[in-house]
Amino acid sequence: MAPPVLHLLASAAPPVVDLVEIVRRAKSGGWTVCVGLTPTAAEWMEGQLSALEEQTGHPVRSTPRRFDEREVWPGADVTVLAPATLNTVNSSALGLTTNFVTGRVVEAVGKRWPLVMMPCVNSAYATHPQFATSIETLRNAGVHVLYGEGGFEPDPPGEGDRRTYPWALALDAARSLAGWRRTPAPPG
Ligand SMILES: Cc1cc2nc3c(=O)[nH]c(=O)nc-3n(C[C@H](O)[C@H](O)[C@H](O)COP(=O)(O)O)c2cc1C
Repeated sequence: MAPPVLHLLASAAPPVVDLVEIVRRAKSGGWTVCVGLTPTAAEWMEGQLSALEEQTGHPVRSTPRRFDEREVWPGADVTVLAPATLNTVNSSALGLTTNFVTGRVVEAVGKRWPLVMMPCVNSAYATHPQFATSIETLRNAGVHVLYGEGGFEPDPPGEGDRRTYPWALALDAARSLAGWRRTPAPPG
């Protein structure tokens, strides 16, 4: 049987710079991995894009497909969005498809594809009234949001440490969700 496919999407919060290591872990856990980044995350990761492509064997995507372009990734068994910034969480909840990552997330929500989202926000961002509404909206739509107890818990501004971002929770949740879907989602 072909290995399960993980679409690993990330936005511009500090843990994104550890993606090479996270992809290595996911691959050693048996996943085929495809990496998608927001435009800002892609800028931050400029120096690591070729390493990610070499590791995954797939292009790193950060721009939406043109209407006449073919899908270049295998279909996902599970999609993980981590780290998810305030901007990307809110955009996803509002259904805004302004970049590749939010476009994929909105599609996965609408099609009820298995989706794990782990925010990365400081406690000031977390108190913005839209954030709680977005988390609730996404959970109600079937997204597995790892936030609060058992998930990411925010630190005060300036006190977060990207090395403690709980990546293992996201990979464990993806593994559990993979069991829910026997047939991979079709590409597109
Ligand atoms: C050093 C640095 C750290 C940041 N950390 C976070 C963060 O942890 N969470 C967050 O929501 N935004 C953070 N931001 C702000 C986001 O990068 C910014 O809002 C960006 O527009 C998000 O874009 P994206 O969601 O499309 O990736 C940080 C910005 C910088 C420069």
